[in-house]
Amino acid sequence: MAAVDMRVDLGGLKMRTPVATASGTFGYGFEYFGAVDYPKLGAVTAKGIRVEPWPGNPMPRHCEVPGGLVNAIGLQGTGVDHFLEITLPRYRATVPDAPPVIANIWGGSVEGYAEVARRIGDAVAAIEMNVSCPNVKEGGHTFGQDPKVLFEVVSAVRAATKLPLFVKLAPNVPSIVPYVRACEDAGADALSLINTIPAMVIDVERRRPVIANGSGGLSGRAVHPVAVKVVHDARAATKLPILAMGGVYEAKDAVEFLLAGANAVAVGTALFSDPGVVAAVHDGIADYCARHGFASVAALTAEGLQL
Ligand SMILES: Cc1cc2nc3c(=O)[nH]c(=O)nc-3n(C[C@H](O)[C@H](O)[C@H](O)COP(=O)(O)O)c2cc1C
Repeated sequence: MAAVDMRVDLGGLKMRTPVATASGTFGYGFEYFGAVDYPKLGAVTAKGIRVEPWPGNPMPRHCEVPGGLVNAIGLQGTGVDHFLEITLPRYRATVPDAPPVIANIWGGSVEGYAEVARRIGDAVAAIEMNVSCPNVKEGGHTFGQDPKVLFEVVSAVRAATKLPLFVKLAPNVPSIVPYVRACEDAGADALSLINTIPAMVIDVERRRPVIANGSGGLSGRAVHPVAVKVVHDARAATKLPILAMGGVYEAKDAVEFLLAGANAVAVGTALFSDPGVVAAVHDGIADYCARHGFASVAALTAEGLQL
């Protein structure tokens, strides 16, 4: 059988493979040079950025748990100007034939989000909105927790950018469907599913939370079945392309996502223990398609689950 066609189009973002990296687990793209097989990556998602530099949370800010990691980095970043002037050029100078960049953005207000998107212009290939951060003006609930607020913030960013626009949703809601609809109605081009799940670890001897922030977000193997369900539920509600993430450690995890309704996958926490996961997942998806008679990844996702 001829080589499997790995290309996918995620809401206008053209990826040479269906494997991306998840925001916050791959730095700004250049840090893994020499450790990751970049030609097997379809896109690189950068660490979250906002308009101004942001220090993040006090340390300690992460803790390994069975099946994953709890982190409360707190969206530390150098701000959008540094990203555009220093970080992006460094990524492109370091990585030959560099995969397209998805800029992950956040803000403390609706206007804050729109301003980052505006300043980015067309410097990257796509924008991913992290809506799991607090709306400072509205009492600190996250933007992604209320479909009306979500609609408002996605609409504002939609008006500020012509780039493919992804919205990244968190799974800790009773049903993902109203949030999916809000993104669709506001003009999003794709969904990223899922962000981390709120979690806490206690040091029983010190009788204190392990993480200085008190709590954080769970990622890694433990969240994978949760993510598969969210992707499946979202797929039943929308035709928007889905970039799935949450506990992809091997090709089987990625194929599960593709069968549940995702169009591409991102690897995250697994990269910390084995950067080789990118190549293994890429090659394993190709092998799965070949064994099951799919000429392309797009053909596999079009077919989906046998119910
Ligand atoms: C250390 C760390 C930092 C993260 N930073 C961000 C971030 O800046 N923006 C964002 O949208 N998601 C962030 N995430 C969430 C991941 O992109 C991903 O959605 C989540 O970890 C689930 O995938 P995984 O289980 O493969 O890690 C971060 C995750 C980790 C572990």
